[in-house]
Amino acid sequence: MNFVVFSSGQGGNLQAIIDAVQNKKIKGKISCVFCNKAKAYTLKRAARAKIPSLCLNPDDFPSREAFDKEVLQYLKGHSVDFIVLAGYKRLLSGYFIRHFRDKILNIHPTLLPAFKGLHGIRDAFDYGVKLTGVTVHFVVEEMDTGVIIAQEPVRVDPKDTKESLERKIHRVEHRIYPKVINLFAQGKIKIVGRQVVIG
Ligand code: GRF
Repeated sequence: MNFVVFSSGQGGNLQAIIDAVQNKKIKGKISCVFCNKAKAYTLKRAARAKIPSLCLNPDDFPSREAFDKEVLQYLKGHSVDFIVLAGYKRLLSGYFIRHFRDKILNIHPTLLPAFKGLHGIRDAFDYGVKLTGVTVHFVVEEMDTGVIIAQEPVRVDPKDTKESLERKIHRVEHRIYPKVINLFAQGKIKIVGRQVVIG
């Protein structure tokens, strides 16, 4: 199975996925990396791993759909079975999501449905929760609401700062996302209503 990783920033998750592919922990191939921020470090990680990448600037397009249509056009030139969002800080259009229905995975740095949105770690920390975590889920048109595939809790200790919590969350992300991607790449994740059946 071939997949594309969409990533907008640091690319810590992309790196974990690259490493897992290289170590054969993910039995699949990253056909390319897509990014919407020209200066994102994630593009350097893709280049270092010799993975082709495309970066488009949303400001160059009249609408979200026009942007996504261009991305889809590019993806047609690559073999793509599914999409992995890894810190992709931009909403996908319904057009794109329908094209890859039930084939787009995302990772979110809280225990959904708590603290949806772009600043999940900060929002959970500021709220004062004692337990937060990581969620991997399918992507649907409404943000952060698709069927949940995996979750892992992370405890917030009294001495945690926002930064230390972020580090703990990222460690968990980098461990569980490659595992889920590998299961999905092997056709081992099936959606049944609001649940998934694994195996
Ligand atoms: C991660 O915390 C991920 O859960 C969220 O955005 C962050 C991206 O980090 N969606 P990175 O770019 O993978 O380092």
